[in-house]
Amino acid sequence: HPRVFSGIQPSGGLTLGNYLGAIKRFVDMQNQGDFETVYCMVDLHAITVWQDPADLKRNTRELAAGFIASGISPEKSILINQSQVPEHAQLGWIFNCVARMGWMGRMTQWKDKAGKNAEAASLGLFGYPALMAADILVYHATHVPVGEDQKQHLELTRDIAAKFNHDYGVDFFPLTEPVIEGAATRVMSLRDGSKKMSKSDPSDASRINMTDDADTIAKKIRKAKTDPDALPSEAAGLKDRPEARNLVNIYAALNEQTVDQVLADVGGQQFGTFKPALAELAVAKLAPISTEMARLMDDVGEIDKLLAKGAEQAREITAPILKKTYEIVGMVG
Ligand code: TYM
Repeated sequence: HPRVFSGIQPSGGLTLGNYLGAIKRFVDMQNQGDFETVYCMVDLHAITVWQDPADLKRNTRELAAGFIASGISPEKSILINQSQVPEHAQLGWIFNCVARMGWMGRMTQWKDKAGKNAEAASLGLFGYPALMAADILVYHATHVPVGEDQKQHLELTRDIAAKFNHDYGVDFFPLTEPVIEGAATRVMSLRDGSKKMSKSDPSDASRINMTDDADTIAKKIRKAKTDPDALPSEAAGLKDRPEARNLVNIYAALNEQTVDQVLADVGGQQFGTFKPALAELAVAKLAPISTEMARLMDDVGEIDKLLAKGAEQAREITAPILKKTYEIVGMVG
């Protein structure tokens, strides 16, 4: 039975990159009806770098509100907070013993985040991808929708599954398929077309936050970096124009079109015309989500209740898979 798992860190607000690269596609896969879908706030991953405890709590609930406001339905999907389903961390430990130091050291996200001072990074940050593999494989998930930046972690997840199966002589963990699709698998900074849009960028103007109001969204798009040329009429014309390409990709993803469909309509336009249209589209799509998030945040008791229910549903899947894993490994119990 095909099963989808994906997660987002509650380590700050949601960006348009998270929305278009991940959440919007989670909603599509949920509504497609072909999959059982499990979506997760990965709080254990978030604390691989320092999180203020009160902020972590707030961000976790706000992320849950963001999922629901974007269309994740607790009736159709299992929505959970990672630490409330202990099998993630338990399988994570087993995978710490399967994964190799060399594999972890090659992860570009580790290198970027640890920077020059790896000695000072947490051990959890180094082991991060093994816990991520556990998140996925503790459900025997077959499909994982993510943005482009998670591709290497998903390849490692396959390596861990394969090594476990090989070492223990079993065919137990599936080789998971990454699902990296659509026009917005890598949304770039609005200030620099060579940098990913990120919640950790010091410049707030570089990103659209899901909690930005209509004026802020419009202003950020108006000020987004571009080049002086008119828009081309087909995708090939966006080559070597990273900022232009980014804005067209965003338009396409928000409007559920391909890049070529968008360019068939807007090719020849100057940015002075295209940017207001993009701003209008972004506000129309995003403002209802931020309004609904704020409404949901008025009743965190309700959010906590949904997460408790999600954890219960999740454990019906994860507990038997962990039990079987322990048996395979040779643990008495
Ligand atoms: P995180 O929290 O950094 O990002 C969550 C999701 O958003 C996508 N994303 C983007 N997509 C397009 N353009 C961008 N600028 C952009 N920025 C972020 C990410 O690719 C991701 O899909 N390691 C994961 C969390 C995780 C996970 C998992 C994911 C933990 N366990 C298991 C899948 C399965 C992360 O840090 O995502």
